[in-house]
Formats: sequence, C-alpha cells, structure tokens
Amino acid sequence: MVVTAAIPRQRLVDAQGRQIRKLRLSVTDRCNLRCTYCMPLDAAFMPTQTYLTPVEYATIVAELVELGIESVRLTGGEPLLRAEFPEIVAALAAVGVPELSLTTNGIRLIPFLPLLDRYGVRRLNISLDSLDPQTFAAISHGHHLETVKEAIATAADQGFQVKLNMVVMAGVNDHELVPMVEYAKALGVEVRFLELMRIGYACHLGSDRFVSAATMLEHLRQYYDLRPVPRPQDSTSFNFETACGAQIGFIASESQPFCGHCSRWRLSADGVLRACLFKEAGISLRGLSKAERYAAYGQVLGMKPSLRSAEVHHAMHQIGG
Ligand code: 5AD
Ligand code: SF4
Repeated sequence: MVVTAAIPRQRLVDAQGRQIRKLRLSVTDRCNLRCTYCMPLDAAFMPTQTYLTPVEYATIVAELVELGIESVRLTGGEPLLRAEFPEIVAALAAVGVPELSLTTNGIRLIPFLPLLDRYGVRRLNISLDSLDPQTFAAISHGHHLETVKEAIATAADQGFQVKLNMVVMAGVNDHELVPMVEYAKALGVEVRFLELMRIGYACHLGSDRFVSAATMLEHLRQYYDLRPVPRPQDSTSFNFETACGAQIGFIASESQPFCGHCSRWRLSADGVLRACLFKEAGISLRGLSKAERYAAYGQVLGMKPSLRSAEVHHAMHQIGG
C-alpha cells in the first residue's frame, strides 16, 4: 500500500467538525441468539482465523486513544462468545482507554461480572426485547429470558451501570413499553427503546413492523409525566425521567438520525475500520504497518457521510452493533 493520505496529528476531527471520540469494537460476529431483525437462523460467519488478536486490538486502540478516542464499547455479535474475551479486555485495560463498556445479550454475563469489574468495565448495555417468555423466544429464537433477567438483576445489584435495549416492533412487543419501564424502574436501571433500523437482515421485516419514537412517546405519555433530561450533543438517545424516577431513552436512528453530531467509528472483528454503521465501505487494518494504519485513520476520517442512507444490506453483527 502506498502511504499518501495525511496522518492525523492530534485529534480525529472531520471536515464537518465532527470529532471521533467513541469506538464500537466488535470482537466476534457470532451469536448464541438469532434475533429476527439481526440474522437468519443459518447465518454465515467470518472464519475465526480472520479475527483480530488481543495484541492487534490493543495496538490499534492505543493509537486511536492517542488520537482522541475516549471510549471503547465492546460488542459483537455476542462479545462474550469470543474465546479470547478475557485477554482482549485485559489488553485494552492495559492500554488505558478512558472508558470501556460492553453490549451483550446477557446470556453468558454472570460468570464474566468479576472480570468486567476487575478491568473497570462498569457500563453494560443488555438487550431485552420482551418480558414475555414466548415473545422473547419468538424474537430471539432462544429460550433464555430467565437467564437474561437473572443477569440483569445480578449486574444491577453489583452496582454495574445497566441500560436495557429494547427494539420495538409493531404487533410483536409494542404493547410492552409500560411493563418494560416498570421492570427497569424496579431494578433502578435505565431502559432505552430503539427504533427498528433498516440494516442487514432487518430489511426483510416489513415496514409495518416499524414504530417511531414519537409514537412510543405518545403512548408512554398516557401513563407517565415525562421530563426531558439533558444529554451530550453526540448522544444517540434522547432521554426522559418520570416523576417516580424511571429513566427512559429513545434511539430514533430512523426518524431522527444523529449523523450531524456522530462521534463514532466501528472496528469489525476481522479488522475493518468504518466511519459509519450505514456505510459498507471501510478500510482493513489487518496486516498494516504503523504508518499504513495512520494513513488509514486519515482516510476513514473522510468517510463519514453527512446524511443517513435509507437502508443498507450488510449485516450489523458483522460491522459491530
Ligand atoms: N434495529 C435496531 N436495533 C438493532 N439491534 C440490532 N439490530 C438492530 C436493528 N435492525 C440492536 C440490538 C442490541 C443493539 C446492539 O443493537 O438489539 O440491543
Ligand atoms: Fe445476537 Fe444481538 Fe444479533 Fe440478537 S441482535 S442475534 S443478540 S447479535
């Protein structure tokens, strides 16, 4: 590779003034669930030998921290399925990432809590699309509701900062918004309602499954007095607090895209760095020299779109959700 692009010297700020502060780092594209909006039952996965090693992750993340990345969220697929997960967390903690967090489906979480605590991974986003065992199984193709609820309660009890992610789908789980708020409130954790994004396998779901955040809000306002909570400019969610202290967020990436203030990059498990979840294009960092990686960072900086694409067909679990 010929190194031509400018090497960013200090901060990763693009032509539109968007500073890259956050990295979604996928450690595997595999998962022990098959959520209907994420992957088919017979999903194909990357060969495991293409995955970045703990040392490669640490090298790349150390460089990005030097360039201003402040937070790294470990994601998948299901990150806790990666055999070297403990080594990856240890390597990243040694790099001194200001904030490390984890997105998980919770199935394997409990035995990992001591490790996460040891390395300062205190913020956990846990997917929970339904409180009804049948609906949970119908969405995820797994009978794991009780395991996930136990993991949520255990993590909350141990003082982890837990956020529940619920992808809301019309006629599937959209009648569960209030029970979900009550469930989260009782545990003292935040719940976030996600609009169904038209990405990858979700594109096969009809648009009649889509529920806008505005519709969700309208429904919830019948039950709660919702007060807006201030948020950072690059936040993907907008948040409310109820009079009784429940914390509720909405991620409206379809109806209210946040591209203008996006501060995220994504690194896939096989080492492709992307400027946007909705862009197929990225640059593979595997096997590059240090100079080539820095050139790649410069190139990726110019790859963040200003507007969201209507839909993309590449798989979210392979990009790093
Ligand atoms: N639309 C909205 N959310 C999605 N997720 C995965 N695919 C989609 C989609 N098509 C969610 C998961 C998880 C988070 C990482 O992203 O449910 O909570
Ligand atoms: Fe697995 Fe998350 Fe995809 Fe569900 S949404 S199949 S839990 S990666």
